[in-house]
Amino acid sequence: MALKVVTVVCVLVALVSGQEKPNIILLFADDLGWGDLGCYGHPTSTTPNLDKMAEGGLKFMNFYSSAPLCSPSRASLLTGRYQSRTGIWPGVLMCGGLGGLPLNETTIAAQLKKAGYGTGMVGKWHLGVGLNEQYLPTKHGFDQYTGLPYSHDMCPYTICFYPDQACDGHGVAGATPCPLYKDEKIVQQPANFLTLAETYSTAATGFIHEMAGKKQPFFLYMAFQHTHHPQFASKMFTNSTIRGPFGDSLAELDWQVGQIFDAINETGISQNTFVFFTSDNGPALAHLSRGGNGGLLRCGKATTYEGGMREPAIAWWPGKIKPGRTFEMAATVDLFPTISRLVDIPIPTDRIIDGVDMSPILFEDKESNRESYIYYPSNPSPNIGIFAVRHKEYKAHYYTKGGVYPHDGPDVMCRPSTKETKHDPPLLFNLDYDPGELNPLNTKESPYKEILQTINEIKAKFESTVVWTESEMNKGASNAAKPCAKPGCTPFPKCCSTTSDMLN
Ligand SMILES: *[C@@H]1O[C@H](CO)[C@@H](O)[C@H](O)[C@H]1NC(C)=O
Ligand SMILES: *[C@@H]1O[C@H](CO)[C@@H](O)[C@H](O)[C@H]1NC(C)=O
Ligand SMILES: *[C@@H]1O[C@H](CO)[C@@H](O)[C@H](O)[C@H]1NC(C)=O
Repeated sequence: MALKVVTVVCVLVALVSGQEKPNIILLFADDLGWGDLGCYGHPTSTTPNLDKMAEGGLKFMNFYSSAPLCSPSRASLLTGRYQSRTGIWPGVLMCGGLGGLPLNETTIAAQLKKAGYGTGMVGKWHLGVGLNEQYLPTKHGFDQYTGLPYSHDMCPYTICFYPDQACDGHGVAGATPCPLYKDEKIVQQPANFLTLAETYSTAATGFIHEMAGKKQPFFLYMAFQHTHHPQFASKMFTNSTIRGPFGDSLAELDWQVGQIFDAINETGISQNTFVFFTSDNGPALAHLSRGGNGGLLRCGKATTYEGGMREPAIAWWPGKIKPGRTFEMAATVDLFPTISRLVDIPIPTDRIIDGVDMSPILFEDKESNRESYIYYPSNPSPNIGIFAVRHKEYKAHYYTKGGVYPHDGPDVMCRPSTKETKHDPPLLFNLDYDPGELNPLNTKESPYKEILQTINEIKAKFESTVVWTESEMNKGASNAAKPCAKPGCTPFPKCCSTTSDMLN
């Protein structure tokens, strides 16, 4: 009898919580800087949908990605763990790479599946393909996938703007044409960049309608190709803004966001849907006016100055998240534990999760659980480890280096020619007083001497927890791992191209 009552209670609890499980949508931009959105102060960007999201949502002033470049940043977003632990170091995964996000890592999608969620991903994956598509999203907890498995500058295609404008400085020797996957099958190669954004939003909104129709709670991870270089846009967005090719690409991203919000509205799920927007890393400044903008933050992509890793971030959930702006510190690694807690799924205990629960900032208007943050460079190594540590408003740089791209911008600290430099004593900045990191503080005297001491201790404590997982980037590459619609064809890799569009 007692057992029966317990069973009934459990079923009831499951039913009630089943109805209440929120839908979760993660929107992830590519190489979009802190200063690029209209709602973050850019004077010539056209971002009406993101601006509207920010008006109705919570805008973060101190939000970080885990890396100043793609693959490691994406691994941390989905697993809540730094790249030293996931093996996604150094640099990024390339076309033909044999590595990928290890299959023993648990992604947010895999977590949510445990709670009966439908899981879909659209867009840029960049966590590996490997042999026989062994690392694609469908192998990491996603029921559905439509997208390119890496950055579109890693594979050839020719047209970027309507009707036939060539791409800006683009072409990769030895790579197969950019593959568009549907689940684990290539449906278009090279992908058509004049229709790609629409293909992505159609897949995303189709998934939302499908899930809402079945009344199944869902997780959608939408990782835009925009605004990575070389920029591209459809007919509707070619020359549509006054900010040039970058502005057109960003306007198209914003339109995709609008399509998703329309689908949320049309399906009547807005009161039960948590949407979070951010970007993988800072602007690729080496592409100059086509590289995005970090606002007043110093440097950009591939550096551990603020411009490389502090990102625009907006949380939206009508009735649950109070609109406004927060100075509290939070990071992409925090989404894994936050979402797990929201949906009441236990967090894996057999590994270290670097994220902390963001709920106090999101839902309670309280202080963050996060007091410090770790900055890994673009090419971390176990010998050198972390480059910088932030504690409250203070940040200490132990090492700095410039970007990794071939052109020089105006700030010498951000230039590729600026080699790795050790700072002893470390450079200390007050990021609240001096967000641009222009005025180092005197750490020989109080109070900065003691502040630096505290940060040194945080650094040592963190490093004592790190056992570097074997690098996936160092696993080498092979033609057999290059995505090809016609495996075994010749002459490789050109023969991989599909002549007809197999999308539908
Ligand atoms: C867009 O602007 C560029 C530069 O002015 C021009 O070359 C191109 O023809 C324009 N494209 C369209 C479709 O108007
Ligand atoms: C949702 O749709 C309704 C009816 O079309 C409209 O009045 C409302 O403004 C929309 N809400 C949002 C947030 O777009
Ligand atoms: C996954 O396996 C690798 C290799 O054995 C190991 O180093 C790593 O710690 C494992 N990760 C997890 C999350 O168990």
